[in-house]
Amino acid sequence: MSHLINSQLICSDYQKEYPLVEYGKGVYLYDKEGKEYIDTSGCTAAVTHIGHGVEEISQVLFDQSKKLAVYPTHVFYNEELESYLKNICDFAPDSFNHAWTICGGTEAVENAIKLAYQYQKTKGLNRKKVLARWGSYHGNSLTVLDVGGLKARRGYYTDLMVGHEHVSCCFEYRKEEGLSNLEYENLLISEFEKMIDSNQEIFCFIAEPFVGAALGAVGPTENYFKRISEICKSHDILLISDEVMTGFGRTGSNFGMDHFGNYADILCCAKGISSGYFPLGAVIANDHVYHTLKSSGKPFYSGQTYSCIPLAAAVGNATLNYIKDHNLVKNTKNVGSYLKGKLESLKDIPCVGDVRGEGLFLGIEFVKNQETKEPIDPSKFFSKLVEAHSFKHGLVTYGCRGTVDYSIGDHMLLAPPLILTVNEADKIYEGLKKAITESYKEIS
Ligand SMILES: Cc1ncc(COP(=O)(O)O)c(C=O)c1O
Repeated sequence: MSHLINSQLICSDYQKEYPLVEYGKGVYLYDKEGKEYIDTSGCTAAVTHIGHGVEEISQVLFDQSKKLAVYPTHVFYNEELESYLKNICDFAPDSFNHAWTICGGTEAVENAIKLAYQYQKTKGLNRKKVLARWGSYHGNSLTVLDVGGLKARRGYYTDLMVGHEHVSCCFEYRKEEGLSNLEYENLLISEFEKMIDSNQEIFCFIAEPFVGAALGAVGPTENYFKRISEICKSHDILLISDEVMTGFGRTGSNFGMDHFGNYADILCCAKGISSGYFPLGAVIANDHVYHTLKSSGKPFYSGQTYSCIPLAAAVGNATLNYIKDHNLVKNTKNVGSYLKGKLESLKDIPCVGDVRGEGLFLGIEFVKNQETKEPIDPSKFFSKLVEAHSFKHGLVTYGCRGTVDYSIGDHMLLAPPLILTVNEADKIYEGLKKAITESYKEIS
């Protein structure tokens, strides 16, 4: 690694010797020595929906790169692109009929925000603030770090931020002792209303339907998004669903927000959309947003060299067709529910506090005390310890911290490829059971 600029995300530890990964096949990764690992987090997080080494996707990539990789977008349109946009709009809920592609999740979120900004400008408004939730991650450009609420990532750059707004996230497991779910939801809705009433500058609200790596697959209370969307509608604030992790079947439905009725106006997608075979992200807008923009006669003020290119569209199309042809959304629902059931029994280990999530988007939260939910001493960095023991047992896992007050607390995000079988789910469970037990012994 002598030529790498080690980053927070890529081989961050200057002292550590990182083993070399050689190739992947299905849900497995293989290192230089040929040792096999199950990719339980879908690469660092929730990317590899269809698994590694799918030759038909490589073939599409090869064929399209020979035919036409990019084209002069100011003079032509392109068939591969059009058929792809139709495919993703058909996969999205009914009113989502217009889409646009970029290179990944950060760009998807940034472009969704730009679209929402232009929407309200078109309506004669001049609002300037995005509302998001603490404990959510929306990407790594300066703007979306500011929008996001993941303190560990944004902290270093706060001097460069304009200060977008944040409310609390909805996190039932960590709600105040003694509150019912409804009382807790009422408190959050009231906080949201106060924020909107006291801040006339807010033009959109963005949230992950299930908070991913930042909190470990945390879903909302029963009517949270329905109630939030009603408030947004009454103030003409657009609701953006960040589906970068939860889209394209990850939670056992086409999109994460579908679990709650999908009241969103714009969906941001990436990761599983192309399963990592080509950098791709997309913004899908509902008819209301699109027609408002169109009525102004002004095009969307955005666009980059690699927006809407045929090569990305061809890979995205082939990936989505693979998801549909192999019934991966249904498989995710079934195998995910099986795996979650098995993981529940890990609560027999005293440091497992909560098991949560939907489909193959699952989280395990670790605690010092199951009754009080007190987090484990941060100096132990327990989630990294579990990661290390899991690795020994042939599992690549993703241990995270910041579950409590967005700074301390440990959890793990599980997001294996959607092709996972029951047999492979058993292997994940067995490996995790050993790894968590060993880690617990080490800190006890
Ligand atoms: C919910 C969510 N939004 C946005 C992003 C940013 O995506 P990318 O890393 O592709 O830029 C991520 C990445 O993990 C994410 O989890």
